[in-house]
Amino acid sequence: MSKPSHRGHWGSTAGFIWAAAGSAIGLGNLWKFPYIMGSNGGVWFLVAYLVIVVLMGMPIMLTEMAIGRASHRNPVGAFAAQDRRAAPIGVMGVVAAFVILSYYSVIGGWVVKFFVSFLTKGASPEFGVFIARPVEPLLWHGVFLAGSVAVCWHGVNGGIERASRYMMPALFVLLGLMVVRAVTLPGSVAGLRFMFHPGTSEFSWTSIPAALGQVFFSLSLGMGAMVTYGSYLRPEARLVRKAVIVPLLDTACAVLAGLAIFPTVFALGRSPGAGPSLVFLTLPEVFGAMPALGRTLAVLFFLVLILAALTSAVSLLECVVSFTIDEWRWSRSASLLAVGAVVFVQGIPSSLANGMLADWKPALFGGRNFLDAMCFLTDNLLMPVGGLLTCLFIGWVRGPRQMGDEIANHGAWPFRHYRAWAFILRYVAPVLLVIVILAQFGAWKRS
Ligand code: PHE
Repeated sequence: MSKPSHRGHWGSTAGFIWAAAGSAIGLGNLWKFPYIMGSNGGVWFLVAYLVIVVLMGMPIMLTEMAIGRASHRNPVGAFAAQDRRAAPIGVMGVVAAFVILSYYSVIGGWVVKFFVSFLTKGASPEFGVFIARPVEPLLWHGVFLAGSVAVCWHGVNGGIERASRYMMPALFVLLGLMVVRAVTLPGSVAGLRFMFHPGTSEFSWTSIPAALGQVFFSLSLGMGAMVTYGSYLRPEARLVRKAVIVPLLDTACAVLAGLAIFPTVFALGRSPGAGPSLVFLTLPEVFGAMPALGRTLAVLFFLVLILAALTSAVSLLECVVSFTIDEWRWSRSASLLAVGAVVFVQGIPSSLANGMLADWKPALFGGRNFLDAMCFLTDNLLMPVGGLLTCLFIGWVRGPRQMGDEIANHGAWPFRHYRAWAFILRYVAPVLLVIVILAQFGAWKRS
């Protein structure tokens, strides 16, 4: 494995931050976070979430960025450059990215379909009927994936960075507009109450693993995306600030999403559901029932979802193609075409999981359909395990010293929180991650 000669670089600090925030801000912020927060004790959950972001999210993101920047390689090469025996951690990351992308793109396709429907017809398709069709959702999966390929086609600087610099600020502006509309609707207070009420009784011990899992998914940790993006940083880039700003942007977006969604849902007398049903059933109904601006809001909302999902999918795709480019020496265009094609095929069973394959729920999947099984596998197992192995490897095998030195740019500036960071990597993160992973085994079998 020799050092690849011409890899891209981020053009600016802001460009990197928007791209990494683009990876982090995704469907997880818009449809998962607000609901988990509302049903796990509101403000109490928010406080726990923030503590976990600071205690675990920021230090692990910092570590991943540093691992990437130290070698300027894809996740497999980057871990191997630390220690050949660590290469499997990188392999797991690339595999996780591939699997996540395969279903993320299917859901991205649904989002594009809804956007187009609201734009052209002013109404949404019937969700249950649409996702049960054999062919049409697959075509939209292809469209969404082609969009991600198109962004990566132009490289790190000309493609990913340029797209993120427009898309992410646009996302915040649109979301801001939606929040203003939402909180000015009569009756919106009930939504704010649902989200923020201090519900001591709903905040239980299971809320902590839930918060941790959400932090991991939301910050794109434990699967190589941040290693890959870090690998395109210049050697002199300062890491600590970046690993603070990106999680803050991500959290801000999650809270804004809740402020946009819940006041609207409650103002129109509906009750919120989680995940797909919230986005594809409840919200379209709510938009349809609005006295004014319903259609505009629907178009804006699905546009926000597209921007969020696309920039996340791009980071997943880049994680996989950085591997084929660095390790197999494929060209960027050949990598994108080949990986795009394989991801498309891998997405087929996910796309059919609510139609033709709806009854295929093997015991191996814990009674889930294929799509839900893939989500569970990556979000609840591969990502926390990847994070755990990363912490154990840097904290105990490699030892935090070299990585601390890398973070401090070899003495160019002080890494003031070195001791806290090393302590977290060695003790706090592994213990918490083991708890999360064990908690998943209980959740595997669906009752
Ligand atoms: N962070 C993204 C979200 O919140 C999902 C994601 C996970 C993207 C892992 C890239 C890597 O939706």
